[in-house]
Order: sequence, then C-alpha cells, then structure tokens
Amino acid sequence: MAQFIKVAGTADLAPGEVRCVEVAGKKIALFNLEGSFYAIDDTCTHRGGPLSEGEVSGDEVTCPWHVAIYNIKTGAVLSAPAPRGVASYPVRVQGSDVEVEV
Ligand code: FES
Repeated sequence: MAQFIKVAGTADLAPGEVRCVEVAGKKIALFNLEGSFYAIDDTCTHRGGPLSEGEVSGDEVTCPWHVAIYNIKTGAVLSAPAPRGVASYPVRVQGSDVEVEV
C-alpha cells in the first residue's frame, strides 16, 4: 500500500535545486520549483540517464545524456528520444519534512 515517506528536509533543497533520493527501492528525482516540491522517477526511459543531473528550465528538465525533455510536475515526456514519460509521485510537506508517496 502506498505511504508517505520522508525523503528530505525542506531546508535541504533550495528553490531551483534537485537531488536524487532513494526510497522504497526507487530512485526518485526530487525538485524544488520556487518553493514547491515535485518527485518523478530519476531514470530516463530512453537509456537510463539520471534526470536529477539534468538541466532545469521552468518546469522542465532535460536528460543529461541525450537531451530528452520531461515535465517535472507530471513526468510526461515533451521531447524525443525518450519513448514515454516517467512516473510522478505525490509530495507533501509536513512541518520541515518533505515526504513522497510511494
Ligand atoms: S538516456 Fe535520457 S535521453 Fe537518452
């Protein structure tokens, strides 16, 4: 059953920052976009590039390996060569904890 799990503190990730977190056996890219947190799978659906190491522009992230573009808020793929989007996960802030539902 899905549950919210703490993955970071709110102070750990400044606006504009992203990091890879591991939770429940999944690698998840956690983004802070202007104070709101979003979580999507870290692994690009093309050849497995780490999206947490990609360039962020607005609400889009570019895979560092072959420049596929994803929507950070939904995980949808916006640009080839990735064949499909990645999973996105609900995020909530509880006090100073950032929690992801997995
Ligand atoms: S691994 Fe991400 S675009 Fe190729």
